[in-house]
Amino acid sequence: MNPSSDADARNAAGPDHEQVRPATKQRRRDLPDDANLREAWQRNATDWLAWARAPMHDSYWRFHRDQFLTLLPEPGALTVDVGAGEGRLTRELVRRGHRVVAVDASPTLALAARDADAATTIVVADAAALPLRQNVADLAVAFMSLQDIDDLHGAVRQVARVLEPGGRLCAAIVHPLNSSGQFEDRPDGRFIIDGAYLRPRRYSDDLRRDGMAMRFVSAHRPLEMYVDALGDAGLLIERLREPAMPDEALRSIRDRRWQRLPLFLHIRAIRG
Ligand SMILES: C[S@@+](CC[C@H](N)C(=O)[O-])C[C@H]1O[C@@H](n2cnc3c(N)ncnc32)[C@H](O)[C@@H]1O
Repeated sequence: MNPSSDADARNAAGPDHEQVRPATKQRRRDLPDDANLREAWQRNATDWLAWARAPMHDSYWRFHRDQFLTLLPEPGALTVDVGAGEGRLTRELVRRGHRVVAVDASPTLALAARDADAATTIVVADAAALPLRQNVADLAVAFMSLQDIDDLHGAVRQVARVLEPGGRLCAAIVHPLNSSGQFEDRPDGRFIIDGAYLRPRRYSDDLRRDGMAMRFVSAHRPLEMYVDALGDAGLLIERLREPAMPDEALRSIRDRRWQRLPLFLHIRAIRG
């Protein structure tokens, strides 16, 4: 999930309690360029499991899942969920009539996904080496995973390989603007980019809230890198959305900052 936005999204007690001090603590650190994202997600898998499954704890439950689902085509023959984690979106897709194969690099999260839905095929694999036949799927979803995957180009190439011609990839990522900086720590704070938007880098955000802690380890990549990865793999962008936080999801005056700048970026691309 989105580190800085979720920190803000989870901060306040509610619109009627805007003076309440933020309950979420956040600390961001730059990491070495060779920091291994895949290993970091496995290390933090138990924390993620608790975080992702706590009802209404993060943006997925509050608004993000529903915004993303509007991008998806109708269920077809096979949907591949890339970076499926503990499987909350997989289960939602199944409920909506998709036949899903879910893939995640974390054995702990894949096991949890299987425990929650024994009927769905869950595979432990790197997104950059999908153990699936070519042209096997008409839809791939990558919900909040591409920014956490070490080999972005490799993963997108693999998605294109398993998609049939005319098949689609629907992806949600931390918006590159979001990951390039942070808001000042006040309700109407300015957004500050201390470093360089154009410089890819790896970073971690430590979040703590409601007795839960989570370290998000991700890559900041400028938008151009995502567009290049899609284009190089033969995927043509059909839609690009920068959804604002909806009014009904606001919990504090601080959240309104995410109506000025996008938290997330949604892309739908078609295999030519
Ligand atoms: C922010 S979580 C999103 C999980 C899920 N899509 C959700 O929204 O609940 C990112 C996921 O990407 C997975 N991941 C990281 N690197 C990966 C890789 N190289 N291949 C496959 N999955 C990977 C992590 O294990 C983690 O489950």
